[in-house]
Amino acid sequence: MSDSDAAAGRKKPNVPLGCCEGLNNVDYSKMDLIPIEEFIRHINFRDSSFCIAVIAIIFNPLFWNVVARWEHRTRGLSRCFGSPYLACCSLGLVIILLNVLRSHSMTVVMKTQARWEPMERTEVFYFGISLMVLGTLLVVSSFLALGFTGTFLGDYFGLLMDEKVTGFPFNLTENPMYWGSTANYLGLALIGASPVGLVLTAVVALAYKVAIRFEGPFTEQIYQQRNQRRKHQ
Ligand SMILES: *[C@@H]1O[C@H](CO)[C@@H](O)[C@H](O)[C@H]1NC(C)=O
Repeated sequence: MSDSDAAAGRKKPNVPLGCCEGLNNVDYSKMDLIPIEEFIRHINFRDSSFCIAVIAIIFNPLFWNVVARWEHRTRGLSRCFGSPYLACCSLGLVIILLNVLRSHSMTVVMKTQARWEPMERTEVFYFGISLMVLGTLLVVSSFLALGFTGTFLGDYFGLLMDEKVTGFPFNLTENPMYWGSTANYLGLALIGASPVGLVLTAVVALAYKVAIRFEGPFTEQIYQQRNQRRKHQ
């Protein structure tokens, strides 16, 4: 140790030493940022896996709407598979696979990008768990209420439900499957204290909102046509 080190040590004030050292570690530029900026700073929008996740989120509902409407217009899938039931089940399997890929790409981004400290709280964690329980309940119960073909756009294949399903969970919301799935992703983002997870969840919600706009009136029209045919018979 040189004399200058000792001299430097002596120059330090002896009373609030620990306090000063603490303050020296604070990055003042961060303190000036409002929380939203701080939040956005934790997200890398130029990350390629982020882009892949966004594409997967937007592609999925686009894919099943385009394919199902094409089937409704041309009966092309039913002819190809020899039966509407088989065609619908095949589309269902592809949709499940695409959704697994979407979930996977989203968890990859959440794991690789930064967590945000203010979100790393026990309350947030348990709120995330409750959202995932609620989301799973909504998804599973709507699947049980609709059945496989009802869940996977059977209406477009001519596999219509006898009556509109109005029991639980359809007495809570018109689209329990979509909002349940969104709740699952939101829960996952909260559990992982992941700002990018929240952004991706917002993209999911937006994609579903647009999908509902397209699907709602179209499905309604399919059932109206069926009811008119029934009247004529
Ligand atoms: C929905 O239906 C379930 C089961 O029948 C019932 O327990 C629940 O209270 C209903 N909810 C609403 C909002 O009507």
